Amino acid sequence: MARFFLILAFALASVGSLALAGLVERTFRVGKMNISRLCEKRVIAAVNGQMPGPTLEVLEGDTVEVHVINESPYNITIHWHGVFQRLSAWADGPDMITQCPIRPGNSYTYKFNIIGQEGTLWWHAHVSFLRATIYGALVIRPRRGAKAYPFPKPDREVPILLGEWWNANVVNVEKEALLSGNGANKSDAYTINGKPGDLYNCSSKEIYKLKVESGKTYMLRIINAALNNQLFFKVAGHGFTVVAADAAYTKPYKTDVIVIAPGQSIDALMIADAPPALYYMAAQLYQSISPPFPPFDNTTTRGVLEYKYSHVQSPHPQMPEMPAFNNTATAHRFYTNLTGLLMPGKPTVPLEIDTHMFITFGLGIDPCQTNQVTCNRTRGATVASMNNVSFRNPTKMSLLEARYKNVKGIYAEDFPNKPPLFFDFTNASVNTDPTLAPLLFAPKETKVKRLKYNSRVEMVLQNTAIISNENHPLHLHGYNFYVLAQGFGNYNKSMAEQSYNLVDPHERNTIAVPTGGWAAIRFVANNPGVWIMHCHFDIHLPLGLATVFEVENGPTPDSILLPPPMDFPQC
Ligand code: C2O
Repeated sequence: MARFFLILAFALASVGSLALAGLVERTFRVGKMNISRLCEKRVIAAVNGQMPGPTLEVLEGDTVEVHVINESPYNITIHWHGVFQRLSAWADGPDMITQCPIRPGNSYTYKFNIIGQEGTLWWHAHVSFLRATIYGALVIRPRRGAKAYPFPKPDREVPILLGEWWNANVVNVEKEALLSGNGANKSDAYTINGKPGDLYNCSSKEIYKLKVESGKTYMLRIINAALNNQLFFKVAGHGFTVVAADAAYTKPYKTDVIVIAPGQSIDALMIADAPPALYYMAAQLYQSISPPFPPFDNTTTRGVLEYKYSHVQSPHPQMPEMPAFNNTATAHRFYTNLTGLLMPGKPTVPLEIDTHMFITFGLGIDPCQTNQVTCNRTRGATVASMNNVSFRNPTKMSLLEARYKNVKGIYAEDFPNKPPLFFDFTNASVNTDPTLAPLLFAPKETKVKRLKYNSRVEMVLQNTAIISNENHPLHLHGYNFYVLAQGFGNYNKSMAEQSYNLVDPHERNTIAVPTGGWAAIRFVANNPGVWIMHCHFDIHLPLGLATVFEVENGPTPDSILLPPPMDFPQC
C-alpha cells in the first residue's frame, strides 16, 4: 500500500512537472524582405519579414520546436546561440558541423529543450554572413514566474539587439573579403534593433525609441549581433546594474558603460531616475587591433530614451560620452569585473581537471598550395587558426553525422592539446624576424579534440601577435564555461594560477580574450555530440579560427546522443 502511494505521488509529481514544461512551437519562414536603409532600397534575407526577426520567449524547462522553411535562394541553418542542446546536438545549427544546410525550398524542424539556463540568448543563421540579417532574441524566463529572478522584478524588459549593416549583399561581402585575402569588409552602419539612428544619411526616422516612466526599472536584454565588431554601449544620464551575462546570473555589477563582443549578451537593469527629458543610447566600436589599423567602421548608432509625461523635453537629446574606439582599459575593466551569482543547487566550477589544453589562436598565413584562389599575393592568403590548425569544414557530410554513423575519413581526432612550439606569443617581432617565419603558417585541416564524457577540461586561450594582436570573442557551442582569469602578455602558469577565481567565476558561452593576452576557462564535457568552438567575428570563421570538441556518450541512457530527427537535412 505504502508502495502504491509512493508510485502515485511520483506519477503526480511528474505530471506536475510536465504541466509546467510547455511546448513553444514557431514557424520561421526565411525569405525575401524589402528594406530601405542609408538611402538605398535592398532585398535582404530575413525571418518572417522582420529584421531583427521574432523574439522567442520561453520559460526554463520548455521544449522548443521551430519549423524553419527556407524560401530564400541561400543555404540556411539556424543556431540557437548559447542553448546547451543537451542530447540534441542535431538542432545546434552550425553549417557542416552538426548538419548540412537546409537547401532552398526545403525545411527542417529544430527541436530542443531549454534546461538549466535563464536570461538572454539569441538565434542566428550559421552559414556565410547571413546572420547579418537573420537573427533575433531568445528570452528565457524562470519557470516559477518573475518572483524567481534573483533581483527585484523589473517593470519592463526590453531586448536591445545591436547589429551591423552593409549597403550590399552580405553573401557577396563575405566572398569579396575572402577573395581579397585580407578580410577587409568594413560595414556601413551599426544598428539598434535594426535601426541605424540619426547620425547616418537618410536615417533620421530610422531610430529606435524607448519610452520610459520616471522611477521605473527597465531590464535591457542587450545582444551583440554585429558580425565583426565589439561595441561599447551607453545611455546618457543613466547607469546600469548588470545581473546576467550569456544567460547566466552574475553578482550585481554597477557600471555606466557596457562592452559586448559579438555573440555575447548582457542583462542590465536601468532605473529611469534622470530628470524627465530625452537621452540618447549609443553604441560604437571597441577596436582592439594593435596599429596599424585596417579600415574599420567607426560610426555610431543611437536610439532615444524618451520620458513619458515630460514637460521639459528639449529637442536635443543628451548624448553619452563614449569611450575612445581603442579604449582597451575600459573594455578590460568590464570584462574582468564580472563574477558569478552562487545559487543553491547550481553547479560550480570544477576544481579537479582531467584534460589540460593550451590553445594559441589568431591570424596566420596559408601556404599557397591549399588555397590557390587567393594565392596571387607574395606571402599567401590570410587564414586564422587554433594551435596552428586552420579549421576547414568537411564538404561531404556534417561532422555530427559522420560521428553518429561512424564514417571514417571525414575528420581526424588529433587536434593537439598544445601549439607545435612555444614562443614569445604576443611579441610583434614574430612577423618580422626571419628565423620565426615558419610560425606564421597554419595548414587547413579538419581536426577535432575527442573528450571522454564528463571530463573536466581547462583551456588556456593564448592570443598571438601573428599578423596582429586582437581581442577575439571565442564561442563554445553546447556549454557554458567558467572564466577563471584573464591577462595581457604570455600566460605564466604559476602566476596565472594564483589569480584564478575558483570561488565565484562568471559563466559565459563567448569570451572576449584580451588583445595580446590570454584567458583561462573550465567546463565539464557532459553533453555528447560535436561542438564547435570558434571566433564569433564572422570573418574569422571561414578563415579557420575554430576547432571542434567531439564528446563521447556517457554510460547511462540519459547521457547518450539521441538519433537524428526524420527530417534531418541531407547534403
Ligand atoms: Cu553565435 Cu557558432 O555561433
